[in-house]
Amino acid sequence: MKYYYREHVEGYRRVAQEGKRAWGEIHGDDEAFDAFPSRPFLDTALSRLHLDSPQPRALEYGCGTGPGACFLAERGFRVDAIDLIPAAIDIAKRIAAERGLDIGFAVHDVCELPTDGPRYDLIVDSYCLQGIVLEHDRERLFGAVRARLRPTGYYLVSSAVFDPARYSEDAVVVDDLSGRRYHAYGDDLFAADTDTVYRKLGAEKDGYEDAIRIAGAWWLPNRCHRTHEAIGEELQAAGFVILYGNGGHFVCARDDVGRSDMW
Ligand SMILES: C[S@@+](CC[C@H](N)C(=O)[O-])C[C@H]1O[C@@H](n2cnc3c(N)ncnc32)[C@H](O)[C@@H]1O
Repeated sequence: MKYYYREHVEGYRRVAQEGKRAWGEIHGDDEAFDAFPSRPFLDTALSRLHLDSPQPRALEYGCGTGPGACFLAERGFRVDAIDLIPAAIDIAKRIAAERGLDIGFAVHDVCELPTDGPRYDLIVDSYCLQGIVLEHDRERLFGAVRARLRPTGYYLVSSAVFDPARYSEDAVVVDDLSGRRYHAYGDDLFAADTDTVYRKLGAEKDGYEDAIRIAGAWWLPNRCHRTHEAIGEELQAAGFVILYGNGGHFVCARDDVGRSDMW
């Protein structure tokens, strides 16, 4: 089982059981559907994009129950939206239908997104990226996004970033076998060499192929928490130029286009 699977299955089971409408609502934000966390950024960014097609085509990956996808469809985009978790997509389809919105929802793992297929004027990541942790998964994701972005398209990213308040320089666990150092990061451990946040599983590996053993217990790669600057460097290395960036939000374009009027 992939490291990102069960947390999201369990999260959306709660969303469904508790009659909630969005991921953020099980994390204490009751307005998380219509006031979803990246909405202020998207509002501002969309007002500045130069989209030449009359009905631009958008893809949101990690769409959850569809707050961002509905937001885009309500603004005239023709939207496809994917998420890993079937229960999330079921709720997304119901909410979009209630709003009379025609959105192409599908269950899909973004780390398996093919490089061929429809190309988009806009691709949106609304807080999915920090859950795609391993380097090879992030590289595949960025490669597919770049391939699926039209030459004049935009890639809008909102990601959680490294939180210094959770990090302890002094509380360190050193794994005897590998010699690798992990810093306390709230209740988790942080590997500074890869910016990986590990969450404790305990005595059992629990079916996770990517779990690792640290100091006698099993830990799961759970988040990638880079600084804003480090995510920016990663995006540039993956073939994007950054037109705007602040606080984990990025407006990117393909680096092979060089159109000066994009932002
Ligand atoms: C923090 S939630 C945000 C959901 C939604 N964008 C919102 O604003 O409510 C992250 C979402 O990414 C999805 N996700 C995580 N890993 C994924 C993957 N490999 N492929 C597709 N979706 C994934 C989760 O199921 C979850 O819905």
